[in-house]
Amino acid sequence: MATFDYSARITGPSTDLDAIALHLNGNRSLPTREEFYTNYPFYKYWNNSHNDRLLSGEGVNIYIHIPFCIQICDYCFYMKEIIKSREQVDEYVDSLCQEIQLVSETFGLQNRKVNSIYIGGGTPSVLTEKQFNKLIEALHRYHRIQDAEFAFEAEPGTFNRSKLEWWKAGGVNRLSMGVQSFDDEVIRLSSRKHTAAQAIQSIKIVKETGGFEINIDLLSGLAGESVSTWERSVATAIEQETDMLTVYKMKTYANTNFFRKGVHGNEIQLPSDVFEIDLMERAIQAILGAGYTLWSTFAFTRNDAQSKYIEYTWRGQDMVAYGASSFGKLGNLNYQNLNNVPQYVQKVKAGIIPVYRTFPMSYKDMIVKEILLCAVRLFSYSKKEFVDKFGFDYFQLVPEIIEELRCKGYITPDKEELVLTRQGVLFGDFVSKTLAAAVKEALAKDTIGFTY
Ligand SMILES: C[S@@+](CC[C@H](N)C(=O)[O-])C[C@H]1O[C@@H](n2cnc3c(N)ncnc32)[C@H](O)[C@@H]1O
Ligand code: SF4
Repeated sequence: MATFDYSARITGPSTDLDAIALHLNGNRSLPTREEFYTNYPFYKYWNNSHNDRLLSGEGVNIYIHIPFCIQICDYCFYMKEIIKSREQVDEYVDSLCQEIQLVSETFGLQNRKVNSIYIGGGTPSVLTEKQFNKLIEALHRYHRIQDAEFAFEAEPGTFNRSKLEWWKAGGVNRLSMGVQSFDDEVIRLSSRKHTAAQAIQSIKIVKETGGFEINIDLLSGLAGESVSTWERSVATAIEQETDMLTVYKMKTYANTNFFRKGVHGNEIQLPSDVFEIDLMERAIQAILGAGYTLWSTFAFTRNDAQSKYIEYTWRGQDMVAYGASSFGKLGNLNYQNLNNVPQYVQKVKAGIIPVYRTFPMSYKDMIVKEILLCAVRLFSYSKKEFVDKFGFDYFQLVPEIIEELRCKGYITPDKEELVLTRQGVLFGDFVSKTLAAAVKEALAKDTIGFTY
């Protein structure tokens, strides 16, 4: 009787089907011709718990970049340029409106609910009323916007009461103000044009106008900062009683004037890392002491205020990017627009989507991104959310690292949530990097992650 030689298949190169057969059977039995797969996982595992998601359609978030500023601040690493003329901004806004139509129609985005909008920069608050209204009109014509969070970056000194009124009429309901410091000398050393008094006045008129959730940004580690200037700045920030307070660590990127002046040259003295840690520790102590709670590793909140745009995009929702240099994500594809304004305008005028580069995310990339950018930064993050998204418990994948982070006092012993201690908040990016690197390494050698 003829016998089969299985050895070629068993020792031959693995294919996806081999892997599935191995996984489903647990061993390699004799081949049969019974299997006829039409789907995976098998229907017996399907249920109705996610029907709502399908029926309501996944929402999108929108980011729009306005790359114009009235000054170039010495620490700033964002894509921006000095505003030269009204015509230059007119042309840019025209391109934005054209891009909104082009992208929305090409990707069929008109029917997807918009969850949040963020207009950032640069300095969006330099837009004129006509430019602003034109943009809002295009957004409404080509997107389904209703009850979305609508955040707008505003620089103190670049707006007045009437601007606030037309922003509000256009749907803006959250303002993020770059204050950075309430010390005039520290502000001056950063090449910013406003004073501390102007910043306080700007916050006051926003409050009097009403209808905006307010966030202010501070930067820890600016040139010229001392313990006393910093403590006064933080105290003044707290006195403003804004809904949120964000304290970024000032990072000296290579494309900034601080890098040129303080790292390459000796024109200015930048605070050391150790000193910056001390500043941030003092800020955390004072802000929590004043009744704020932690919202992320660098943002504090009162009255349940939150940045939905940041939360949704950190949690991996789609983000449509408009404008030069903007980053977006549709499905598993990350993309960035051209980061040169004339080239961006030229492309859009020619009717071409101005994408410059893309990155397709694998399932494993998404897992690592979730831990690096979301799980740790959100300060407390439930394990159930991760299991629902990715099908396995990452605490079990890297138990030694979880234990080490606990023993070193960065995370609490909580078994259902990843909760940072105060020390963990201070070193938030270190904790996320440590955890994400360990998960990445484990994923590289483990098949864990299959639901069935
Ligand atoms: C893109 S800026 C827009 C703010 C607005 N143009 C203003 O200056 O008021 C947003 C925030 O990024 C932060 N930022 C800028 N450069 C930074 C750096 N080198 N390190 C950390 N944060 C930085 C600042 O706190 C700033 O308020
Ligand atoms: S911090 Fe704001 S105003 Fe200063 S350069 Fe950056 S984007 Fe422009």
